[in-house]
Amino acid sequence: MTKRQLRTRLCDMLGIEYPIISAGMGPTLIGEPNGAPVELVVAVSEAGGLGVLGGAGFNLKELRAAICEIKARTSKPFGVDLLLPKDLPEGSMGADEMPLTEVLKLMPEKHRVWFAKIKEELGLPDTDLTVRTDTTTMRPKEAIEIVLDEKVPLFCAGLGNPGFMTAAAHSQGMKVLGITGNARNARRMAESGVDLVVAQGHEGGGHTGRVGTMALLPQAIDAAAPVPVLAAGGIGDGRGLAAALAMGCIGVWVGTRFLATHEGGAMELCKQRIVESADEDTRVSKLYTGKTSRASYTRFHDLWDQSGLESLPFPFQVLLASALLGGFIKAGRTEYIGGFAGQISGLIHEIKPAAEVVAEMVETAADILSKRLPQTVQVR
Ligand SMILES: Cc1cc2nc3c(=O)[nH]c(=O)nc-3n(C[C@H](O)[C@H](O)[C@H](O)COP(=O)(O)O)c2cc1C
Repeated sequence: MTKRQLRTRLCDMLGIEYPIISAGMGPTLIGEPNGAPVELVVAVSEAGGLGVLGGAGFNLKELRAAICEIKARTSKPFGVDLLLPKDLPEGSMGADEMPLTEVLKLMPEKHRVWFAKIKEELGLPDTDLTVRTDTTTMRPKEAIEIVLDEKVPLFCAGLGNPGFMTAAAHSQGMKVLGITGNARNARRMAESGVDLVVAQGHEGGGHTGRVGTMALLPQAIDAAAPVPVLAAGGIGDGRGLAAALAMGCIGVWVGTRFLATHEGGAMELCKQRIVESADEDTRVSKLYTGKTSRASYTRFHDLWDQSGLESLPFPFQVLLASALLGGFIKAGRTEYIGGFAGQISGLIHEIKPAAEVVAEMVETAADILSKRLPQTVQVR
């Protein structure tokens, strides 16, 4: 394959070759692997895009270690993604680590009764999962200090507005990116001083809004101007990249396609589920985190829907769902096991190296944008 050139303003802003960022993906639930680990970050950055570490499930020490490992393995720019929840019960669980079974005792009775019923009906074993209260999500301020101290080239806020730390980040030579699912929030983020806004449509994997990508992008671009916008949600190949650039985005932020790569961090079972999925095989539910998120459909969704329960506030729903998922994994009940994934799963037929995903996206998008248009289009 001859090397193609496909540059936008994003490439100049971040010092990268192609306008492709692999999304920061944490673990779906406690005890699961990180979706965007060091391996994926290094592979995407080395391939000319920019890899973003999913920092949500790490504790503070692990976060710094992962950043140092990336720096040791690539000299290319990279990013770190953290969740910055507003409504966090910081430190309220006491020790740095607690058995999940103890934390479950803090849940409302209805939820505890349901948990016990499912456990008994499905014959699930006890899990030995522990809940850490020292994760970056529980201690966002300290996590940001680490990111600033390490001068991470791109800081990405997966949840919440990172406006409060942009001045500090800029003084360290860093860029800041915020993610949003609607135009109003895109404007708010732009006004708060971020360098880049990611507009993620309803199609996307993980936490998701209500507006579809096609409708969201032009509205988010107008709302955020002059701050540039990247497209996310449902982008899985060069056609998606070309469409996003044609709409006026300066790049793409891609999750599910990079999760289903050799370097993507999900459990093999979850990657396989993506490969086997059709376009309708994901569900949006509050099951996993108490906020609407899109994941591969499994029978766990049915159990939750049938429970008739209200979801608990973040992060308590995460703990409840994790406790059950831990049991499903231990018992090998694969029909209940799945993770965050987007509607683009139906386009993904193969787990391949991340570098190949980058190269193919660039090749196809460059073809389309250099006027080798699909035969359905005639232009003069
Ligand atoms: C397994 C998985 C985990 C995710 N975790 C995070 C996260 O920790 N922080 C974040 O900002 N976004 C997270 N997301 C959302 C992605 O960053 C991205 O916005 C989304 O995957 C884009 O849509 P796509 O999956 O259609 O490419 C996650 C997505 C997936 C699939």
